[in-house]
Amino acid sequence: MQAWVIGNWKQNPATMSEVNALLETLLATVTDDSDRTSCQLMVAPSCVHLATVGQRLQNTPILCAAQDISAHSDSTGAYTGDCSAQQVADAGASWTIVGHSERRQYHQESHDALMYKLKHAFTQNLGVIFCVGETQEQYDNKQTLEVLNDQLAVVKDLLDKASHLAKTIADNLIIAYEPVWAIGTGKVPTVDEVSTTHDYIKTTLAGFSEALTQTRVLYGGSVNADNAESFAASPVIDGALVGGASLKAESFLAIADAFA
Ligand code: G3H
Repeated sequence: MQAWVIGNWKQNPATMSEVNALLETLLATVTDDSDRTSCQLMVAPSCVHLATVGQRLQNTPILCAAQDISAHSDSTGAYTGDCSAQQVADAGASWTIVGHSERRQYHQESHDALMYKLKHAFTQNLGVIFCVGETQEQYDNKQTLEVLNDQLAVVKDLLDKASHLAKTIADNLIIAYEPVWAIGTGKVPTVDEVSTTHDYIKTTLAGFSEALTQTRVLYGGSVNADNAESFAASPVIDGALVGGASLKAESFLAIADAFA
């Protein structure tokens, strides 16, 4: 299975000129060296940079994703501050992240809100990188699988409610397993721990629908150029969702090389 390496830029960089510099460095390297493209690359800029990045990445080997979409409408409406699935797709995104732990934590995203985000994304032909993962406390209490079960139930509920989307979901869903305690901390679970968790996620999805047996499961949380190779060696880790290390072309591409 081709590995996917996705850079989530979060609320970075500060300026459009830094965005352009990062983008041009990535594009120059990727298009000069066709070996780099054996791994699918994607970047998720902030919403204010999305249209510029999305347009620039058209017809290049790098895909563009939004970091979030509105739960309220897939198109237009009186939802101040929101960007819809239709709008981000029009801006050049072909994917969106949904359910990142920072959205869950700082915006109290509910099970239903996440389900609507998934539904809106698939309705507008966006792929979804759906993030799941346990907090430090849940990890310490050995509740990881229970937490994942609850979080993945969003996918099951969507399948139950919108069975006509089953094939679309199967073709356009990626799960990113990100233990909250590993995000931006430099702490990482062992590769065995991640592999066990990924096995569980894959088995759970296959239980929802046979169509979901091929769903990619990425690992995210303090992935960097030094540890990427160890994650890439696991047959059940299908790529990485990278935060901090995606803000420098050199480290992002080193991670991509590890998964290529
Ligand atoms: O979406 C990316 C993750 O939150 C990982 O962030 O690589 O900075 O730990 P990090």
